[in-house]
Amino acid sequence: MTVLRIEGGTPLSGVVDVPGSKNASLAILSSVLLASGPVTLRNVPRVSDVFIKLDLLRGYGAKIDWEGENLVIDSSELVDFEPTPEMTRLIRTSFYLLGPILARLGRARLPMPGGCQIGARPVDYHLKGLTAMGAKIDTIGEMYVVDAPRLVGTEIYLDFPSAGATQHLMATATLAEGITVIENAAMEPEVTSLADFLVSLGARIEGAGTSTITIQGKEKLTGSQFFIPADRLQAGTFLLGAAITQGDVTVRGVLPEHQTAVVNKLREAGAKASEGPDWVRVSADRRLRGIRVKTMPYPGFPTDVQQPMAAVLAMADGLSTVNETIYESRTGHIGELNRMGAKMTIEGRTTIIEGVAELQGAKVVASDLRAGAALVLAGLAAKGVTEVRNVHFIDRGYEGLESLLTHLGGRIQRIQEKEPIPLA
Ligand code: EPU
Repeated sequence: MTVLRIEGGTPLSGVVDVPGSKNASLAILSSVLLASGPVTLRNVPRVSDVFIKLDLLRGYGAKIDWEGENLVIDSSELVDFEPTPEMTRLIRTSFYLLGPILARLGRARLPMPGGCQIGARPVDYHLKGLTAMGAKIDTIGEMYVVDAPRLVGTEIYLDFPSAGATQHLMATATLAEGITVIENAAMEPEVTSLADFLVSLGARIEGAGTSTITIQGKEKLTGSQFFIPADRLQAGTFLLGAAITQGDVTVRGVLPEHQTAVVNKLREAGAKASEGPDWVRVSADRRLRGIRVKTMPYPGFPTDVQQPMAAVLAMADGLSTVNETIYESRTGHIGELNRMGAKMTIEGRTTIIEGVAELQGAKVVASDLRAGAALVLAGLAAKGVTEVRNVHFIDRGYEGLESLLTHLGGRIQRIQEKEPIPLA
């Protein structure tokens, strides 16, 4: 069993180059199947969700090579493939393959997706959008059986600005006949990155990054070369690391406007922050004070930083509240942080945090990716030794987390523990 063993109490300090974005990569790796020529991607993070996605792409006949730092994918020839439910349930974005496969092959059979257990996470907006574009969708058990000999552009209104549905439908529309308009579209930077990638393939897209996206379909998309931007969520985690350990961290290679919500809430709590064209610096020389946080679609406070932020506020002076509006049950960190001495309770969608001066190291278990990040941050600031188990969740989205944190002065090691011998 893999364990992250953390000796807390050392302030994080220094400059860190942030790896490529997991969520932008996963969206792009679905859409890569739209390209009838080789695509070279740079800065793809080597995280387990990406490896799972590449396995799915291989199933569809894509040829995949790592050439040093470059990931080269050739989807010129695709084959009919039916992934197993065991494969698709490993990641949420397995479902975003549906539209591109339909656009290329006219039919698809895809089991329901999975991903971190943080809420119900239905796929109804995806299905409604594809249906509006002319797809005929049936289900057999957990399998979607979809036919669309021809996809046609249409107007789609999303009931909620879903990042995944916006990405999936925008990508699919690039090969539909005519014009598609997506209203109430998500404005997350990962949507814009995907649009930039699709445009590099020759797609015609306007308005990505706003709530109305217009796509003019084309008959064919070509190959291209594309650089995956830095992971804003990982950058946010490091900035919170500076705040919780009373350290001083600069994240480099990022766009400061992607950190606006996190940085402003940290400032409100008493941290200092500055920024340049491609960097953000956060430092804290004293205990932060309690604040109220509410997650919102971008440019609001990101749900993916909510759990790490709660860890920071667990050690702030006074009362804090963290209101999660995107997912119903992104709460797996709470019980584990309480084991470390935090005083957190939950009322509906709101975590109420009575700040404590000190956390104590403990043996804790990650329940999902961002809960894992929250526990690592808490461990870095706690007194004594923290051991985080279920590291595979953290490996879904943080490339080389322990080496980057070690570089910043954190005392964190990955160790392999012998499995306990089961009692007879
Ligand atoms: N929703 C529906 N119906 C749908 C689609 C979404 O009700 O058809 C709901 C969801 O249940 C959720 C809300 O809409 O309550 C927002 O979901 P969204 O579709 O925006 O999320 P997603 O595309 O499934 C991506 C990220 C998540 C991140 C969200 C929000 C990836 C692989 N995942 O998920 O990232 O929390 O956007 O920004 O890009 C993570 O990285 O830890 C993670 C969970």
